Amino acid sequence: MCHHLQGVNRVDNQNTQITPIEEPKGASRSLKGWLGKIRIYGLRDELILPYLLLTILLAVIGTFIVIRLVASDRNERFTNQLYNSSRTAADIIRQQENTNLRNLRFLLSSTTLAEMVENRDVEQLKSLGSILKAYESEFISVVDRNGQEIITIELPPGTNQPIMSLSSQNFRDFDPVVKIFSSAEGKTEKHVGLIRTKTETVLVTSAAVRGAAGDIKGVLLVGTYVNSLLTTIKEQTLVNHVMLLDENYEIISQIIPEISVSSGGEATLAASPELENLLQSLKTQGLDAAGDVKKNLRSYDINQRSFTIYYSEFNIREEVKGWLGLSLSDDYQTSAITTSRLAMVLLFSIGTLAVIIIGYLLAQSIARPILKLRDLSKEVAGGNLNQRINIKRSDEIGELAEAFDQMTQQLRERTEEAARLFELTIQRNKELTQINAKLQSMQLQLIQAEKLAAVGQLTAGIVHDVKNPLAVVKGLSEVLLGNDLTDEERQQLKVIHESAVKANNIVTDLLKFARQSTPEKKFQDLRETVEASLRLTAYLSRKANVEVIKDLPDRAVMMWYDSQQLEQVFINIITNAIQAMPDKGTLRVSMRRIDHTVAISFQDTGIGIPAENLNRIFDPFFTTKPEGQGTGLGLSVSYGIVSNHNGHIQVESKVGEGSTFTVILPIDQSPSPQGVI
Ligand SMILES: Nc1ncnc2c1ncn2[C@@H]1O[C@H](COP(=O)(O)OP(=O)(O)OP(=O)(O)O)[C@@H](O)[C@H]1O
Ligand SMILES: [Mg+2]
Repeated sequence: MCHHLQGVNRVDNQNTQITPIEEPKGASRSLKGWLGKIRIYGLRDELILPYLLLTILLAVIGTFIVIRLVASDRNERFTNQLYNSSRTAADIIRQQENTNLRNLRFLLSSTTLAEMVENRDVEQLKSLGSILKAYESEFISVVDRNGQEIITIELPPGTNQPIMSLSSQNFRDFDPVVKIFSSAEGKTEKHVGLIRTKTETVLVTSAAVRGAAGDIKGVLLVGTYVNSLLTTIKEQTLVNHVMLLDENYEIISQIIPEISVSSGGEATLAASPELENLLQSLKTQGLDAAGDVKKNLRSYDINQRSFTIYYSEFNIREEVKGWLGLSLSDDYQTSAITTSRLAMVLLFSIGTLAVIIIGYLLAQSIARPILKLRDLSKEVAGGNLNQRINIKRSDEIGELAEAFDQMTQQLRERTEEAARLFELTIQRNKELTQINAKLQSMQLQLIQAEKLAAVGQLTAGIVHDVKNPLAVVKGLSEVLLGNDLTDEERQQLKVIHESAVKANNIVTDLLKFARQSTPEKKFQDLRETVEASLRLTAYLSRKANVEVIKDLPDRAVMMWYDSQQLEQVFINIITNAIQAMPDKGTLRVSMRRIDHTVAISFQDTGIGIPAENLNRIFDPFFTTKPEGQGTGLGLSVSYGIVSNHNGHIQVESKVGEGSTFTVILPIDQSPSPQGVI
C-alpha cells in the first residue's frame, strides 16, 4: 500500500517537471516570454523538430548546389547552341552557293547564250529572269567581253516580278570577273565574290560565257542577296542577331534582333555605341580562325538587353573571307535557368515535404508506443494492474514494452500475494476470536466449579451443625430405650430414634452430594457402570413407559475411574431424561471410543431444553421442576464428578424433539485422583 502511494507521488513529480519553470521578473521578460511560445511540447516534437530543421537545411543546400550545376550546364548548352548554329549557318551558305552554281551551269548549258551575249541581245537575255523564280537564286548579271554590264535581273525577297536594270556598270575590276578574263583558254572556272549594289550586297558565282570556239564572249553572274541568306540563317538557327563581317571586321550585312528600338530601327542599332565598341574590340583583339569558342565569344548590350555572340570564319573557296557572327539573347539563357531553377525549387519543396511527412510518420511510430506506455503507467499507478501494452517490436521500444509488461505482471503477483496474506490474517483473527470464546466458556466453567465449591462448603457447615444435635437425639433415645418403659412409650421412642437415624442418613447423603469426596479410581470396564446405572433406573423407565435402547461396544472399555461417582452421574442424567418424557419415549444409550476418549451419550425424545436455559442447567439449585420434586443439584454434582475425571459434559437440545447429554472422558487418565471439591 505504502509502495503504491509512493508510485503515485513519483508520477506527480514527473508531471510537475514538465510544467514550465516560472519566469524571473526583469528586463529579459519579454524575450523569455517570446521564447516561451516556441516551447517543445513533447516527445513527438522533440523527435520531429531536429529532423525538420535538418531536412530544410539539406533541402536548401541541395537546391543551391543543383541550381549552380544546372546553371553551369545551361551555360555550356548555351555556348553549344551558338556553336551548332554557326555550323548550320555554314551549311546554309554552302547550299545556297551550290544552288547558285547549279543555276549558273543550267544557264550556261543554253546554246544560244553565247550568241545573245555577243549580240548584246537584251530582249533575249531578259528571259533568263524566269530561272530566278523557279531556282532559288535572286540575282543574275550578264557582262560583255569588256567587263561592261549588259543586263542585271533581280528578284528581291518578297517580290514575284524580276527587276531588270541596264545600268552599264563596269565589272572590269570585280574580282570574280577579272579572274574569268585572265583564266586559261578553254577552262570553265567558277569564282565567287560579293557585289555591293546600291542597296544590297550580293554573293555571286561567276563563270565565262564561251562561244563555240571556246572564246570568251562574256561573264555570267548568279547570286543571292546576303541579307536574305542571313535571314534564312536567322530563321533556321533561331538566333537573335546575325552579322556578316568582312576581313577587317566591318559589317557587310546584319539581321538585327527583334527588339523595339525607340526610333530609326536598324539605323539606330547600326549606330549603337555598344555595337561600335564590339567591332572596335574585334579589330584590336582579333578572332580565331579555327573557331575556338572561348576566343570567339563576345558579350554586348543593346537597349539594356544582353547578348552573346559567336564568330566563325566565313570562307567560300578561299575567295570570300570574313566572319559570320551569330548572337543569342541572354534572356534565352536566363529564362531557361529561371525555369529550371523554379523546377528545382519545386522538386526540392515536394521532396522536403515528402521527407517531412515520412519523418512525421516515423516520429509518430516512435512516439506512439511511448505515449501509450506513459498512459498505461498512469493507469497502473492509479491501481489498475490489469494492463498489457502488447507492442511486438524487435527494437528498444519493444524491449521497453516487454519490461513494462513484466513489471506490471510482477506488481500484479505481488499485490495478489499481499491480498492473500491479508485474507490469511483475517482468517487467523477469526480463529483467535474462536479461541477467545472457548477461553471464555472455560472461564465460565471455572466459575461454575467455584459456585459448586461455595455451595459444598455451605452445605458442609449446615450438615455439621445439624449432625451433632442429631447424634445427641440418637444417643439419648438409645439410652432411654434401655429403661423400663411402657409399650406405647417404647414405640414412640423407637420412632424418635429411627427418625434421628433417618435424618442423620439424609444429611450424610447431602454432605456426600455437596462435598464431592475424592474419587477412588479403579481400573475397570466402563460398560459395567453404564449397565449398573440402567439396571438401577429400570423401574423408573418402566413406570414412565420409556423404551431404553442400548448401543454399547462389544469389547470392554477399560480405564481408571470411580465407579460409584460415575454411576451417580449416569443415574442423574437417565433420571432427568425419564422425567422429560412423562408419557412415553425412547432413551438411546450409546458408547463410542474416539481416539483417546470415550463418549457416553444419552439421547431422549423428551420435552427438550429452551435455549435460554441451556447455560443454566449446570447451576446448583437450578430446576424447572415443581417444589419438592427437584432440588436442582443433579447436574451440578454430575458436572463436578466428570470434571474430577478430567472430562466434560456436552448438551444438545431442541424444544419438543428431545435432548442428548454426552459425557466425554479421557481413557488414559492417571489412576491418582485429581482435584477435590
Ligand atoms: N433430559 C432432560 N430433558 C429436559 N430437561 C432436563 C433434562 N435434564 C435436565 N433438565 C433440566 O435441567 C434442570 C436441572 O436438572 P438437575 O438434574 O440438576 O435438577 P432436577 O432434576 O431439577 O432436580 P434433582 O435432580 O436435584 O432432583 C431440570 O430441572 C430440567 O429442567
Ligand atoms: Mg435431576
